[in-house]
Amino acid sequence: MKDTLLRDQVSAPSRRGGQKAEAGKNRRLHLDVTPENLAVITFAHPDKSANVFDEATLDELHLAISAVECLKPGGLVFVSSKPSIFIAGADLDSLADANQERLEHLIVKGQDAFRRIADLPMPTAAAIHGACVGGGLELALACDLRIASNDRSTKLGLPETMLGILPAWGGSTRLPRLIGLPKALNAILSGKSYAASHAKNLGIVDAVVPAERLLEASAKLLRRSPVSRKRHFATNNFVSATGIRFFTRRRVLEKSRSNYPALLEAIEVVCRGASGSIAKSLEREKDALLRLSGTSETRNLMRLFRLQERAKKLRYTPSIQLADLDPIERTAVIGAGVMGAGITQWLSSREVPVILRDIDRTRVAAGMELVRKLFGSAVKKRILTRHEAMLRMDLIHPSAEPVSLQRCDLVIEAAVEDLEVKKKIFADLCKRSGDNTILATNTSALPISELCTADGITHPERIVGLHFFNPVSRMKLVEVVITDHTSPEVIERVLAFVREIGKLPVVVKDSPGFLVNRILMPYLIEAGHLVDREYDPAFIDEAMLDFGMPMGPLRLLDEVGLDVAGHVAVTMREAFGDRFELPECIHELTKEEHFGRKSGRGFYRYENGKAIGESAKDTVYGGLSREQLADHLAGLMVKESEGCLAEGIARDAEDIDLAMVLGTGFAPFRGGPLAWKDDRNSPPPGNSKTDHFTI
Ligand code: NAI
Repeated sequence: MKDTLLRDQVSAPSRRGGQKAEAGKNRRLHLDVTPENLAVITFAHPDKSANVFDEATLDELHLAISAVECLKPGGLVFVSSKPSIFIAGADLDSLADANQERLEHLIVKGQDAFRRIADLPMPTAAAIHGACVGGGLELALACDLRIASNDRSTKLGLPETMLGILPAWGGSTRLPRLIGLPKALNAILSGKSYAASHAKNLGIVDAVVPAERLLEASAKLLRRSPVSRKRHFATNNFVSATGIRFFTRRRVLEKSRSNYPALLEAIEVVCRGASGSIAKSLEREKDALLRLSGTSETRNLMRLFRLQERAKKLRYTPSIQLADLDPIERTAVIGAGVMGAGITQWLSSREVPVILRDIDRTRVAAGMELVRKLFGSAVKKRILTRHEAMLRMDLIHPSAEPVSLQRCDLVIEAAVEDLEVKKKIFADLCKRSGDNTILATNTSALPISELCTADGITHPERIVGLHFFNPVSRMKLVEVVITDHTSPEVIERVLAFVREIGKLPVVVKDSPGFLVNRILMPYLIEAGHLVDREYDPAFIDEAMLDFGMPMGPLRLLDEVGLDVAGHVAVTMREAFGDRFELPECIHELTKEEHFGRKSGRGFYRYENGKAIGESAKDTVYGGLSREQLADHLAGLMVKESEGCLAEGIARDAEDIDLAMVLGTGFAPFRGGPLAWKDDRNSPPPGNSKTDHFTI
């Protein structure tokens, strides 16, 4: 077997990429030797758009390493044949389905392969173009050198903790040795991916070159004498590592409220592995991953990752050929307020031309100022260069006058939340736009079907809801709201567009509040009713922070605006009845013009935009523990989710969970309201069960 593989894989220098490629077309990787005696291992998964490490790939890698050990070339370079991916990490499907024994087998197989690469006698390099994450970066870390292309698609990172696991193919051991313990901890705990230049500043990458020079530059660097690496003695020693471990653990426990065990396991493994025996540290990586793999946190985070991947490929009517549909290339946004400006900035940042229209010059100018600020922050965060930001701003055409929209493929209305205003705007849009122009509204809760049947509306089949979330640049979710009139072609065109601009769509049926606001509102409203019953707002918010929400419900109401939340609640009360009845405290606060953060006061007081006041230290209030209170409030979201599922508002429970996590930050480690309900009803071994509690 090995001999056959060696014969098939190793081609004579002159045959590189010719007959051999045909012979090995089902292979996941190919080995060639150049006339300069450089071995090149090319990752080229035949069945997937991304290279991933499944067991077959690891087997082939072991065989290729054996071949390299026999051939003893002058150097070895790893490359990828994929246009914008080096290696996207481990194949999560095989990890998710694996029992403990199989998982251990896969961990050991990967660790062994990368250890063998690290032990090769010749110099080795990873020539990285495109995404190099998880296991991909762990392979690169086992090489002597890492050379990355300066392409925008090149990103390096170890995102495992975001999935409830940790790098266990040597990443937790080799990264701190390469860049020092503090920087490595930060990279692993944040799960961030870095652009090539940033990775070079951190010391992960040795050189950044244009993509077309990657192989040549790698060969040149490999011929040089070995690089001398900084040893990081000051941080990577037992005493410093113990201190760093203690303080990082304390900080993480406080921030994550003990909800993310993978972070704590990673701190242990990375800090203890920064010095001492590599073999022992690899053992610790393996044991920690095996411990984590049985927990509901890991299962839920992995599931959410898979659901996001599913949303990226979402089709509503798969029989429709995408190639037959007109693409959406030119757009317009009506209303230059918070959402209109946010949507405009996002579209132009994705290189989509957009007209931004509001009723007068002052409002258009204010909207453009918001857009400018958003681009400024993208430049600060190194998402765009200053020059790129300027070019993208040039794609915006601001207008205070009615303009022809005949050439627009999509118009997104983001004017005030008032059905009568929106009806007038849509009647006007029908006159100004082409018959094939899709007309979308960003309404939070108003019935879109009523827009379709309003006076002056033509071609209601091209009307949809495109509900972006605030802040647009940070929120990945877009609810694509369809009515009985919406045509399947329009839905497919919109879905393709949402994917194109890098957002994740969930298709929902038109109904007041759609999906996310419908499920969120009863929870927010009940938090207000508890305040009516003299519960301390800080206690309520702390309870939900402990539960894992990014913000308590009352702080969230202040953030959204009590007036805005009030409008949404009124719409929903008309449709669904008393459970959407506004609490007295919100009526009182809005009567006194306390609208939340924007007016300086709501449930909290604000100074310079920041909430002031002590956070609650109580663990029990009014006879209730924080856990019981959280269980009650989150239980309302479960109930509403079940209602939405039964009414067919969303396609399935997975879409509801994904939408709630992406749209509201519903504790990701709990997997969304419906996954949380399932876990409560049948907790996996090792997870404690909370009794359901109602007030
Ligand atoms: P906003 O009040 O900040 O902006 C609305 C803008 O629309 C104003 O600049 C106004 O001058 C303009 N406008 C009013 N009538 C117009 C017309 N006939 N033609 C052109 N422009 C007109 O409101 P915001 O917050 O941006 O909300 C816009 C829409 O997005 C609403 O339907 C809202 O429910 C929805 N939404 C709001 C979210 C939020 O967090 N603010 C989140 C998601 C949706």
